[in-house]
Amino acid sequence: MDNMNPSNTDVKRIGVLTGGGDCPGLNPVIRAVVRRAIRAGIEVMGIRDGWKGLVSDTIVPLDINSVSGILSRGGTILGTSRTNIYKNPADSVKAKETMAKHKLDALIAIGGEDTLGVAQRLYEEGIRVVGVPKTIDNDLSCTDYTFGFDSAINIAMEAIDRLHTTAESHNRVIVVELMGRHTGWIAMHAGIAGGADAILIPDVENDIDLVVAELKKRHARGKRFSIVAIAEGVKLKNTVVTQDARVDDFGHVRLGGVGQTLAAEIERRTGYETRTVVLGHLQRGGSPTAFDRILGTRFGIRAVELVLEGGFGKMVCLRGNTIETVEIKKAIAQPKTVDGEWVKIASVFYG
Ligand code: F6P
Repeated sequence: MDNMNPSNTDVKRIGVLTGGGDCPGLNPVIRAVVRRAIRAGIEVMGIRDGWKGLVSDTIVPLDINSVSGILSRGGTILGTSRTNIYKNPADSVKAKETMAKHKLDALIAIGGEDTLGVAQRLYEEGIRVVGVPKTIDNDLSCTDYTFGFDSAINIAMEAIDRLHTTAESHNRVIVVELMGRHTGWIAMHAGIAGGADAILIPDVENDIDLVVAELKKRHARGKRFSIVAIAEGVKLKNTVVTQDARVDDFGHVRLGGVGQTLAAEIERRTGYETRTVVLGHLQRGGSPTAFDRILGTRFGIRAVELVLEGGFGKMVCLRGNTIETVEIKKAIAQPKTVDGEWVKIASVFYG
């Protein structure tokens, strides 16, 4: 223990878990949580596979060596799942029993709206929880950015760069389908950074007539190829395109296929050969960027400090370049959408 522990905390041992879809930057958060907690004389237990680990009692001690060498690694050393312990009432009881059994005085839950929704419910039932915002989609409210997003848009931007050269060689339109269930932050940012000729996102009305007109305008001035970015959650004819009928514990369908539908429509209306690329989980895999490593590190440190201060029911967040805190319930109330200003910026480069 050193002077980094305020004397008024009764917390001796905490649990940390990662829930929902993985993303680059989770390991930097876990590393920072462990390092900062150990400095404060607090033991850390890793809960495997998100909330599932509290139901199955799969808990591992984390020391400095367990988090050594993970800063640059994508994914999460703890594993993750989309388990909702409130789907089956017995699971939430078991989760609390597991916490008591392992003498966990508090929890740090790293996750998006679903994982933090569970955290909020546990907090309302008396469990001491602190949240760390995580979503590759960057659509969690009350934080300017979530880690993982920067890594994803850089991967997507590079993919769009690569698609340019092959599209140009073959005089094709290429539709690139990007992640983004409720919002189109990845499509918008990667599309702007990669110079897409049209960007479709779920946050606004999309007019296919307009997309087709812009592509025709571009081809009329001599360009013989185009790149179109589309978020997987875009509704065409008022319906999302799904891979199948399965849903997860939180009721989310498995998205995928909207790019193909759009490509067929573009080809039908323009006569230009149109292909589709689905980037999928490539956007979530691999090493985090420097931005994501630093943001994850800052979030992890501040989350432990929140525990030390007794700031339960709160989440760390980024505002400007400052790490702040906010009530979890405020952050999960509604998603952070892409506003029309972004659409205006992107559309300057259409046609
Ligand atoms: O919620 C983040 C996200 O990456 C979405 O963009 C995507 O629809 C979903 O996860 C994919 O989830 P899974 O990896 O479970 O198929």
